Amino acid sequence: MTLRIGVLGAGQLGWMLALAGAPLGLRFRFVDPNPDAPAGRLAELIVADYEDPAALDALAECDRVSYEFESVPVAAVEALGGRVLVCPGARALGVAQDRALEKAAFARLGIPTAEFLTVASDPELERACASLGLPAVLKTRRLGYDGKGQVVLRRPQDIAGAFDAIGRAPAILERLVPFDRELSVIAVRSERGEIRSYGLTENTHRDGILHLSLAPAPNVTPALERRAGEIIGALLEELDYVGVLALELFQVGSDLLANEMAPRVHNSGHWTIDGARTSQFENHLRAVCGLPLGATDALGPAGMLNLVGHVPPARELLAIEDAHLYDYGKAPRPRRKVGHLTVRGPTLEAVRNRLAVAEQSLAKSSG
Ligand SMILES: Nc1ncnc2c1ncn2[C@@H]1O[C@H](COP(=O)(O)OP(=O)(O)O)[C@@H](O)[C@H]1O
Ligand SMILES: [Mg+2]
Repeated sequence: MTLRIGVLGAGQLGWMLALAGAPLGLRFRFVDPNPDAPAGRLAELIVADYEDPAALDALAECDRVSYEFESVPVAAVEALGGRVLVCPGARALGVAQDRALEKAAFARLGIPTAEFLTVASDPELERACASLGLPAVLKTRRLGYDGKGQVVLRRPQDIAGAFDAIGRAPAILERLVPFDRELSVIAVRSERGEIRSYGLTENTHRDGILHLSLAPAPNVTPALERRAGEIIGALLEELDYVGVLALELFQVGSDLLANEMAPRVHNSGHWTIDGARTSQFENHLRAVCGLPLGATDALGPAGMLNLVGHVPPARELLAIEDAHLYDYGKAPRPRRKVGHLTVRGPTLEAVRNRLAVAEQSLAKSSG
């Protein structure tokens, strides 16, 4: 078929899309302002800003366009949408880019979230703190990721200076949720409206960055799994979505609160490459290309460790049984995601033990 897929963004998510697309016979054309972007090692990379007219012309020549970076300008995606099929569409992107619009979409669908108020000035922050109470977290509405653009307010003296700390950008103040754990659900919707959902994944964050994922998440009742499916299904329908959508959740008792969504393949779904019958990357491409979707069942217990800052010696990581290394080829830097390791095992216990060995290797090789 040799379709050519244009992709805005060429980071590790694009790199893994290109890896998944190769056996399907797909070709890729990436656009990214970073000349060293990982996907450029596997496919054509146009180094340009996302609004560069020549780069957008080159994308419009492709058979389909998608994006792997959720902060691409909506205007660029809208303009492209008039010229080529873009999945997911500009509306889903616009909603996901703004925490207030995102929360409004959740509310419309009756999906519970942390209580929140919008904040655009110091007096508004004062009022919001008085109304919601502390502890709370102040987050910029736009452009935040990996915990950036956020500050946690625990005591009244944390309020002064908090709005400055996030650059005085339009924000939301959210009540801090005393969650039992964090989960995510990833699902894919086709052009024809078929939906397939991966099972819940349990996620642990460190300093606002995803550290570990376990899949299938342990101790999930059928009711919880069903509820997660209903929530993401409602979002996919509401946004008339085509492609992979990820939703981060807080579990409180037997309830699920929506935290945020990502209109793209997601870090908490990297385990699907080695641990599911069809990876999130392949399923995204299948949806974008109008192909039948693949089965989303897990193959067994799996865990994913993010390699943040640096990649430990491959010799050590690959000595772990059923471990699979993804080195994005990025320069090491503190707090930067430079790779991940997925381990599988016969039991969750075995997966945890193997992850612990990988964590030791990561700790030992740092600094
Ligand atoms: N309202 C909240 N209550 C408790 N923890 C939170 C809340 N909001 C965010 N966090 C913590 O911070 C992490 C990052 O916040 P998130 O809103 O997902 O932003 P980002 O876009 O940086 O991923 C979350 O995964 C969670 O661990
Ligand atoms: Mg998040």
